[in-house]
Amino acid sequence: MDDKVRRIPPTLATLRAATHDAGFTMSCEERTGSLLAVLAASRPGGRILELGTGVGEGTAWLVSGMDATSSLVTVELDATVQTIAREQLGSDPRVTFVTGDGGDWLEGYDGEPFDLVFADTWPGKFTHLERALELVAPGGTYLIDDLLPQPSWPDGHEASVKLLLAELEERQDFRCVRLAWASGLLMAVRSGNVGCGHDLA
Ligand SMILES: C[S@@+](CC[C@H](N)C(=O)[O-])C[C@H]1O[C@@H](n2cnc3c(N)ncnc32)[C@H](O)[C@@H]1O
Repeated sequence: MDDKVRRIPPTLATLRAATHDAGFTMSCEERTGSLLAVLAASRPGGRILELGTGVGEGTAWLVSGMDATSSLVTVELDATVQTIAREQLGSDPRVTFVTGDGGDWLEGYDGEPFDLVFADTWPGKFTHLERALELVAPGGTYLIDDLLPQPSWPDGHEASVKLLLAELEERQDFRCVRLAWASGLLMAVRSGNVGCGHDLA
């Protein structure tokens, strides 16, 4: 078996061309995208949050897995890059684009929780972690990527990633799995068994 991704969202080719022209280099990998699509498909009628739209490649993967009754909110600080996503995906009524700081948005949001949170920027991952986790519904998934060391990481970033992983994995209200897949992922599912003593370890 190989790990080639065989089903690509129809909008991705156009988005990639625009991404190249814009010089944007932070879009998620194909393998991460394929997991996003699977997770979105696992939640008919699901409520999805993406922190960090970028140019919309992750958004395109999420949308490709969503059913007609699912919805997605995607938040991006940089209006210029998000415009590319809006141009390609803005006509989809299931998607709400928010332009602004993800931390401000997390602090101000008072709606229903989400079935899937893809935290792909600083707020919701390295800052505002608690708030992002609060917004994960029971049985819902929190997903982060870019966890395997990269030569481009600034000084101190590896230590920040280690702290983040430790913080997530010691929580009793989430079950976590590390995936050495694509840029390195962690998936955490909000479990209902806090304090019920069913852990085997
Ligand atoms: C890794 S990229 C997102 C990639 C996208 N999710 C994908 O899968 O293709 C991170 C994005 O976060 C944005 N960003 C940086 N700081 C932010 C903030 N404080 N609030 C919201 N977005 C932010 C950046 O402009 C960048 O577009």
